[in-house]
Amino acid sequence: MSRKFNPIIQVENDGFKLPEPVGSWSEKKYSLMGGYCEIFNAGIKNKFTNRVYVDLFAGAEYVPIKGKNKILKSSALISLSIPTPFTKYIFCEMEQEKISALEIRARREHPEKDILFMQGDSNEIVTNVIEEIRKLGSSTISFCFVDPFSLNLHFETIEKISKVGKVDFLILLALMMNANRNLHNFITEESKVIDLYIKKADWRDSFKKGETRKEEFIKFIADTYDENMKKLGYKVKNEGLKPKVDADEYNLSLYYLAFYSKNPLGNKFFSEIQKYHIDQQTLF
Ligand SMILES: C[S@@+](CC[C@H](N)C(=O)[O-])C[C@H]1O[C@@H](n2cnc3c(N)ncnc32)[C@H](O)[C@@H]1O
Repeated sequence: MSRKFNPIIQVENDGFKLPEPVGSWSEKKYSLMGGYCEIFNAGIKNKFTNRVYVDLFAGAEYVPIKGKNKILKSSALISLSIPTPFTKYIFCEMEQEKISALEIRARREHPEKDILFMQGDSNEIVTNVIEEIRKLGSSTISFCFVDPFSLNLHFETIEKISKVGKVDFLILLALMMNANRNLHNFITEESKVIDLYIKKADWRDSFKKGETRKEEFIKFIADTYDENMKKLGYKVKNEGLKPKVDADEYNLSLYYLAFYSKNPLGNKFFSEIQKYHIDQQTLF
């Protein structure tokens, strides 16, 4: 497969808000999400009038790479830069300063595009996101990129968006970054983090009864996530659609990027992107 678009796009510091630097492993994330944005739009542009990109954890969109003295465009600006663009963009971000910087950058570089900026907790403003997609009518398909640092993503948020129509998801499951380290906190009855993350209030039972060992916590959450997506009609037979992203320099696994589509074509596109963008891919 020969594709021309390179999602790794270096930029100059423009003086607006920059987030904390991220590790160079983020480039894998940008390659996969950007690659999918491109193949998705190129592949279905004649089939749907409306193609919507939703970024629930958008950030400020210029991001410094640790130790590399370079700044890259991150997810929302990558999605705007693809050769066959989406017809509508919805960017959500909790921090006012970040969404303001994103708006300046996106409007400056893409004045002609239809972009909505929503400030707030994605788990709450998801109803506004859905309303905007619904307005577009039946010839609509969406790609939703979900990129949280932690486990503050409610499964209900994904469920609500999935019910709006045809939606593919790429979800960063921050399991190794967050879940493993905090199991002792999550297991206490006061913590609702996992209950909300997998929409399952009785998840502790399996650990208490000894059916699942603490060492299997990550696998347990990842499997439950797949089960939840299956119940929503997503095809998750192909486990190869959950690449693991490692911080090679620390010999450490960080997170899974889990792809979900109801359409076999979506799964085929994502498999192609993995082969093309990631040479050595560790599969879940
Ligand atoms: C890992 S960064 C993602 C940045 C960007 N997507 C990228 O490609 O690098 C997560 C972002 O989500 C924001 N955030 C955290 N919790 C949020 C929430 N509940 N709703 C919306 N945004 C949130 C943070 O401020 C941060 O900018």
